[in-house]
Amino acid sequence: MPIISFCNQKGGCGKTVGAVHLASWLHRKRKKIHFVDADPQSSGATWMSLLSSQIPTSKITDANELIERLPELAEQFQFVVVDGAPNTTESTRAILCLSDVSVTPIQPTGLDLHSASEAIRLIKSAQKITGGRPIAAVFLSRASKGTRLKEEALSLLSQIPDVKLLKTVIHNKQAIADCFTQQCSIFEMKKAEDSAQEFEQLCKEILGLLK
Ligand SMILES: Nc1ncnc2c1ncn2[C@@H]1O[C@H](COP(=O)(O)OP(=O)(O)OP(=O)(O)O)[C@@H](O)[C@H]1O
Ligand SMILES: [Mg+2]
Repeated sequence: MPIISFCNQKGGCGKTVGAVHLASWLHRKRKKIHFVDADPQSSGATWMSLLSSQIPTSKITDANELIERLPELAEQFQFVVVDGAPNTTESTRAILCLSDVSVTPIQPTGLDLHSASEAIRLIKSAQKITGGRPIAAVFLSRASKGTRLKEEALSLLSQIPDVKLLKTVIHNKQAIADCFTQQCSIFEMKKAEDSAQEFEQLCKEILGLLK
């Protein structure tokens, strides 16, 4: 069943936050899922181990192992969610070639937008190799409401050919940053309904890409 990965060679853009929340949301929907942490920093796997949901998790960083294990896991589980590393190595390329959907979080800063083209190039090269996969989606991550940079970033990202700009914007919120130390996801955080709603919408949009 589908492999959905969060990749972007730019560090700190929200890959782990996105992957952990998609996994948590799918788990709450009673889907049988597996979480793969492909980043040697292991922050995704550590976070998963702190959650009460006990979602099966593997740490796989080696390209050959990813090539072997991801299709096996996809056969065993309804969804495989992959948290990518901030690099453009063989492992990231392997993940992209094997993914059904690749989600790229992008922060609305000049530097992040500048490096987005490299992330998209990597996805397009995977699509050339596989003959179409993965479906490519980007979303604006850690945005601030009412800023010009946010609107400019959305306009820029909407113009990338063959890449779906997700309508949901994940805004910068302290509650999101606090989730790891609180050993939970935003769905269990108190007084964070607005951010929980954003993640719910984001997850629905990502799943909608598979239809
Ligand atoms: N919407 C948000 N609001 C507030 N903080 C956020 C938000 N998204 C991410 N963060 C925080 O920003 C930091 C980077 O996020 P995250 O670890 O998800 O990025 P990443 O792309 O996985 O980074 P890396 O490339 O290092 O793996 C974390 O401390 C996280 O808690
Ligand atoms: Mg990460």
